[in-house]
Amino acid sequence: MPHNMNRQIRLASRPTGWVTLDNFETTEQAIPEPADNELVIRNIFMSVDPYMRGRMNDRKSYVPPFQIGEVLQAGVVGEVISSNNDDFSEGAIVQGMLGWENYSVSSGQGLYRLLNTNVPLSYYLGILGMPGMTAWVGLTEIAKLQEGESVFVSAASGAVGSVVGQIAKIYGCHVAGCAGSDDKLEFLKNELGFDAVFNYKNSLSLPASMAEVCPNGIDVNFENVGGEIFEAALWHMRNFGRIALCGMIASYNDETLQPGPRGMMSIIGKRLRIEGFIVTDHPKACAEYTRQATQWIDEGKLIYRETIAEGIENAASAFIDMLNGKNVGKQIVRLDDA
Ligand SMILES: NC(=O)c1ccc[n+]([C@@H]2O[C@H](COP(=O)([O-])OP(=O)(O)OC[C@H]3O[C@@H](n4cnc5c(N)ncnc54)[C@H](OP(=O)(O)O)[C@@H]3O)[C@@H](O)[C@H]2O)c1
Repeated sequence: MPHNMNRQIRLASRPTGWVTLDNFETTEQAIPEPADNELVIRNIFMSVDPYMRGRMNDRKSYVPPFQIGEVLQAGVVGEVISSNNDDFSEGAIVQGMLGWENYSVSSGQGLYRLLNTNVPLSYYLGILGMPGMTAWVGLTEIAKLQEGESVFVSAASGAVGSVVGQIAKIYGCHVAGCAGSDDKLEFLKNELGFDAVFNYKNSLSLPASMAEVCPNGIDVNFENVGGEIFEAALWHMRNFGRIALCGMIASYNDETLQPGPRGMMSIIGKRLRIEGFIVTDHPKACAEYTRQATQWIDEGKLIYRETIAEGIENAASAFIDMLNGKNVGKQIVRLDDA
C-alpha cells in the first residue's frame, strides 16, 4: 500500500557505546515532487548494514559520518513514481544510496535501473548487491582463493558470510565457520553445505574450536568479526595463508580501542598476508560477480536467506537486532509492496 506521507528516520543523537532506539527520531513530511532533472522514488526495500554503526560516530572514515538531524542513508530498491529526468521514466525499478524513508528525491546520480526482475527485488541489497559482492571481492581479489583450500569465515550465517561459504564450496574448498546460535549452525551445515561449524558463544576455547573445524589449518580466513575470533584464526593459519579483513563487528559499539590480536609473530613465521578492503574500490570485480552470481542463482548453486522487518517504523530496531545477531542471512526492511 503506498503511503500518504513520507515518513523519515533521522539521527537524533550519536550513540555512546551500544546504539539504542533513542538515537533515532521519526519525522513526517508530504510526499516530495521532483524539481527539474529530478525524480521521485517510492522505496520498496531498504538495507540495514553493520557499517552504518560507524557512520553514527563523528569520526573520519572511508564514508562520511551521518549528521545529527539528517535523514540516514541506506541502500534502497524502489520504483520511480514521477520523473523530470530523461534517464529514468516512471515505473522504472531502481537501486541506489537513498534515505531511511518511504519516498526519496534523486538527481539520478549513482542510481541504477534494474533490468532483471526475475529474482526478488530485495536480492539487489543482499546476494546480488553489496554483501554478495563483498564476499566475492574478499575471496577472489584479496585472498586469491585457490581450489581445494581450507577456508574459515566468521559471522558465517550473515549476509556476507553465507555467500563466502557457498562460493568457497563451489571452489571445492574445505569450508568452516562460526555463528552465534545453534539454529544458525543448522542452516550453515544443512542448507549451505559448510563442512564444520561452531557456536562461538558456547565455545569453551576458541583456539580449540578453531582447530576442530579446520584440522589442517586455514589457508584463507575471511574476517568479519575481529577480537578473539580473529586471534584464534590467526593462530591456526597455514604457511602463506591470506586473511581478507572485511569487518570487525565485535568492536563497532566499543567506546575505547581494544589491544590488537596476540600472536602477531606468527604473521612473520608463517609468511601471512593480511589485507583490509572496501568493496566499492573494486567495481570491475563487482560487475563480474553480478554476472556469475545470477548464473549460480539460476542453477541453484547459490541460495539465500533473508530476515525481513516490516515498515520504516521498524527500521531502527531491525538495525539494532542485526548488530545483536538476530538476523539469519541479510537483514532487510520492507517499506512498501513490490
Ligand atoms: N569491507 C567491506 O567492504 C564490507 C562490506 C560489507 C560488510 N562488511 C563487514 O562484513 C561483516 C558482515 O556484514 P554483514 O552485512 O554480512 O552482516 P551480517 O553478518 O548479516 O550481520 C551481522 C552479524 O554479525 C554477528 N556478530 C555481531 N556481533 C558479534 C560479535 N561480537 N562476535 C561475533 N559475531 C558477531 C551476528 O551474528 P552471530 O549470531 O553469528 O553473532 C550478526 O548477525 C561486518 O563486519 C561488516 O562490517 C564489510
